[in-house]
Amino acid sequence: MRERKPFVGGNWKMNTNRTTSADLTRGVIDALSSVNNAEIAIFPPFPYLLSVRSILRDRGSSIKLGAQDCYHKPDGAFTGEVSLDMLKDCGVQTVLVGHSERRHVIGESDEMINTKLRAVVDAGLIAILCIGETLDQRESGHTDPVNQRQLRTGLADVSADAFERIVIAYEPVWAIGTGKTATPEDAQDVHGKLRKLLAQMYNTDVAQRTRIIYGGSVKGANAEELFRQPDIDGGLIGGASLKAPEFAQIVKAASVTAAKT
Ligand code: 13P
Repeated sequence: MRERKPFVGGNWKMNTNRTTSADLTRGVIDALSSVNNAEIAIFPPFPYLLSVRSILRDRGSSIKLGAQDCYHKPDGAFTGEVSLDMLKDCGVQTVLVGHSERRHVIGESDEMINTKLRAVVDAGLIAILCIGETLDQRESGHTDPVNQRQLRTGLADVSADAFERIVIAYEPVWAIGTGKTATPEDAQDVHGKLRKLLAQMYNTDVAQRTRIIYGGSVKGANAEELFRQPDIDGGLIGGASLKAPEFAQIVKAASVTAAKT
């Protein structure tokens, strides 16, 4: 049995509406009621956080409520942004930081992502730091330096103690929403190197305790072979998290493989 409890997140991105977010929440709760060997989180769009939270609470579910982004300032004139106090007020327990769509579509810098990560951790919430190379970077042989730079800058001025509340998500940009998944071996190669880097930056205890999860076209059909890799501790799921039965299949794959490996 693996010492790290798998973490599986469903990142709904800018999908669902008031009705379908509620239906999906109920579907996920029902499909996962018997799973206890995995930490599960769902990340609905901001407007549905409160209604999703009441469903989770009414059903006594241990599924964590997550936000897809945050702003690091506590309050003030930041039109359109959402603070961590507001998210906590809505029952949010975990926040994605540095998702590739925030980096590459919205244009967030490594420094901005680091500021947000520190704010999430300081707020007592779990930060999921997302990193990953683009196709150009992979094809030009820069996969390792890009991921290492994003890990180092994302974690600048973060202490070893904060790792109680940090999960790393490796999401190669070319695999997100494309149907192209990294092979289990390629993903394991990156995860193993990231864990080694954590050991160098901090210590072996931090490296061994920290969950490093994989994201990028994870489906019910390929989840198990990915999660069987020794350094892949779960997944961050986009498209397949919008279908409760498939998301449940992925979570179960993480739970079962963690118990066996
Ligand atoms: P897909 O699973 O749709 O490829 O998305 C992955 C992702 O970006 C999760 O954050």
